[in-house]
Amino acid sequence: MTILDGKKTSEQIKQEIAQEVQEIKSRGGKIPHLAAVLVGEDGASQTYVNSKVKDCQQVGFGSTLVRLGAEVTEDELLEKVQQINNDEDIDGIIVQLPLPGHISVEKVTAKIRPEKDVDGFHPVNVGRMVKGLPAYIAATPFGIMQLLERYQVETSGKHCVIIGRSDIVGTPMSILMARKAQPGNSTVTLCHSRTRDIKAHTLQADIVVAALGKPGFLTGDMVKSGVTVIDVGITRVPDASKKRGYALKGDVDFETVAPKCDFITPVPGGVGPMTRAALLWNTLQSAKNSFYQPEQVTE
Ligand code: GUN
Repeated sequence: MTILDGKKTSEQIKQEIAQEVQEIKSRGGKIPHLAAVLVGEDGASQTYVNSKVKDCQQVGFGSTLVRLGAEVTEDELLEKVQQINNDEDIDGIIVQLPLPGHISVEKVTAKIRPEKDVDGFHPVNVGRMVKGLPAYIAATPFGIMQLLERYQVETSGKHCVIIGRSDIVGTPMSILMARKAQPGNSTVTLCHSRTRDIKAHTLQADIVVAALGKPGFLTGDMVKSGVTVIDVGITRVPDASKKRGYALKGDVDFETVAPKCDFITPVPGGVGPMTRAALLWNTLQSAKNSFYQPEQVTE
């Protein structure tokens, strides 16, 4: 059994990014700059956004954190996004989710310029990903694909069962694993809340991606031997023995599942740090105009 070490792999990726930033600096190029918008006081969201800003500092990016109160109106938020869209110095924009109920996530997502949508949530980027065109790919699925690639986990011809059909993880994972690429070329089953007998599917799986947000959902009796398991869950579960009062629990019951695995991601230290590294990578691509070249003007 091999642990897919997201912490170590993400540190390698961050080093590669930091080195590229140094090279950009030395030739006087554009230093990548990420703007993060945080609405309200949600504890988990504050932690995530603070980590993203810290990551930017670690690799030499510029960063801007915009904090707005939970009572901000939808129009005010859209106006803020527009301002950042127009700011030439900012390469990537993320609006941390979830948003308060009175604000439409769809409207806000669609407001971000696709060229700066380093979360890969804009319909243009989702569409480009589905068609296999260069696109920003949402950070969690992208981080998982990197982990599979760097550990050379065989995916071609394998049966991949994904549990959870969220816009952010399950749905894009299903597209990426099925597409004609390496990693990819898997046969994909996407399970969700209406799936009958999830265990019957997971028992057939060579690869399981658990992304449903239910701590300990996937147990050892639900997988076959030699499986690869990717645990996307990071639920905060009260734990008085921890200084911060909670523990992070994955969707996988590691104790019973790990002994049956060829590869497995731990929680913490698996998918989480890979997500953070993937966001930095997307921001670097934006600063380099990798996906959206400026219009070629021909005389
Ligand atoms: N909330 C949970 N995950 C994410 C993410 O990847 N991006 C944003 N913007 N919000 C999130």
